[in-house]
Amino acid sequence: MFTRAVYPGSFDPVTNGHIDLIERSARLFDEVVVAVLRNTEKTPLFTDQERAEMLERAVRDLKNVTVASFAGLLVDFITEIEASVIIRGIRAISDYEYELQMALMNRRLSSSVETVFMLPAEAYSYLSSKLVKEIAALGGSITGLVPEDVEKRLGGKFRIN
Ligand code: PNS
Repeated sequence: MFTRAVYPGSFDPVTNGHIDLIERSARLFDEVVVAVLRNTEKTPLFTDQERAEMLERAVRDLKNVTVASFAGLLVDFITEIEASVIIRGIRAISDYEYELQMALMNRRLSSSVETVFMLPAEAYSYLSSKLVKEIAALGGSITGLVPEDVEKRLGGKFRIN
């Protein structure tokens, strides 16, 4: 059976933790669609297009991974593209409560969708887009935490490097 999985998120911006999870997912599922949320409630630092571009560059060598963007309910997007799995990363137990709530709500909205929780490499267990932005804004080093082009773009946003 062909299984298409969706890895949804804000990706503002993509980090090496996200990429680690995408690579792991690509080994498990036939196809992985990385889905960038448009019009997020939070005001993103990067535009929808910028966030998708950074992801596209990061996954270009992974043959069964594509990048798409969506607005509205995740389960509607999943039905539209005929996917059956939602991938979410859990870094620490603190992520679990929110993720559980979302997974169960998504299941209520669409009983055929399964959420699969995955663990990133330990080295990324404390990494988040939010912290990366904060460090970059304050002039700290984010080398090794995000792809090189993302580092450059962050530098551009905050006029560093
Ligand atoms: O990277 P994030 O911000 O943790 O991702 C959150 C995301 C995009 C997965 C979540 O906000 C989402 O699915 N939004 C789409 C709207 C929706 O379906 N809401 C109901 C979720 S139960």
